[in-house]
Amino acid sequence: MSTTRTVPALPDGVTVGELELLCVELATQAARFIRDERPERMGVAATKSTETDVVTVMDRRSEELLHRLIQQVRPDDGILGEEGADVEGTSGLTWVVDPIDGTVNYLYEVPAYAVSVAVVVGDARSQGGWRPVAGAVADPCLRLVHHAGVGTGAWTRPEGQRATSTAAQDASAQPAVRRLVASGEDRLARTLLATGFGYAPEVRARQAEVLLRVLPQVRDIRRIGSAALDLVRVADGSVDAYAESGLNAWDLAAGWLIAEEAGAVVVGEGEHPGKALTVAAGPALVEQVRTLFLAGAQPDR
Ligand code: IPD
Repeated sequence: MSTTRTVPALPDGVTVGELELLCVELATQAARFIRDERPERMGVAATKSTETDVVTVMDRRSEELLHRLIQQVRPDDGILGEEGADVEGTSGLTWVVDPIDGTVNYLYEVPAYAVSVAVVVGDARSQGGWRPVAGAVADPCLRLVHHAGVGTGAWTRPEGQRATSTAAQDASAQPAVRRLVASGEDRLARTLLATGFGYAPEVRARQAEVLLRVLPQVRDIRRIGSAALDLVRVADGSVDAYAESGLNAWDLAAGWLIAEEAGAVVVGEGEHPGKALTVAAGPALVEQVRTLFLAGAQPDR
C-alpha cells in the first residue's frame, strides 16, 4: 500500500499554507461560537435520517457562520456542509465543513465534539472523487485546534495562539504548538481502537455484528462520538486505530489529512475512505484493521 502523497494542483496564486491558516482561523471562530454562545437550555431543532440523528439550532448557526466567513475570504470556492450548505464554486476548491461533529455529545454536554473545516480538490459530492489539501479540527472543550496541510505535517495549537507562518516555525517559538505523531503499534491484540455507529437502526445492527468479531481481537474499543476527534486521536497516538462505516465527507475530510500527515494511513474499502468504510492506523496495522472490518461485512451505504 502506498503512503506517498503528492500535492494536488491548486488554483493559481493559492498555497497549501495559506489554506491551512484559513482552516485554523475559521474552525477556531466556529468553535468559540458554539462554546460561548451555547444557549442555557439546548434543544433539538430537527431530526435528519432518523429520530436519533439530531440537529441543534447551534449546528445551523455554526454552519451559517462558516458559510458567511468562507464567502467573505474565498467567494469563488464551493461549500459543502452537513446542515445543507451546497455551493458549486468556480475555483476548483471546495470547503467541506461539519459545524458540530459530535452533535449528540454537544446536546448532552459530553465534552467531545468539534468543528471540522477542510478544503478539498475534486468533486466533494462523489465517493472517491476528492482529496483534502488543508484542514482543521477545533476542539472547543479542550480549547485546542488540530490542523494539517498536504506535506506540512500535523499540528496542535492552543485555541488562542494564532498561526503566523508555518506550524514548524511557530512550534520552535511557541512550545505549546506541537507536532502530532501516530502510534507505531503493529499488533491487533495491543490495539486501542476507536469506532462509531450510524443513526439508522438497521445500520447499527450490522455494525454490532461486526463488533462481535472485532472486540475479542483488540485491546479494547472506544466510542468517543465524534469521527473528527477519533481521527485526531489516531494522529496524536492516543488511540492506535479508528474504523467506522457510514461516514460522510464532512465527518472525515479534515481528520483524514491530519491523521495522514501524522504518519497514519487512511483507507476505505479501497484506497479512498468514505461511506463504505474508513480505517485509519499506522502503516503496520492498517491492513489488519481493514481486514477485520471487511471480513464478511455487509457494506453500510
Ligand atoms: C457523527 C459523529 C459520530 C459518528 C457518526 C457521525 P455528527 O457526526 O461523528 O462519532 O459515529 O457516524 O455521523 O452527526 O455528530 O456530525
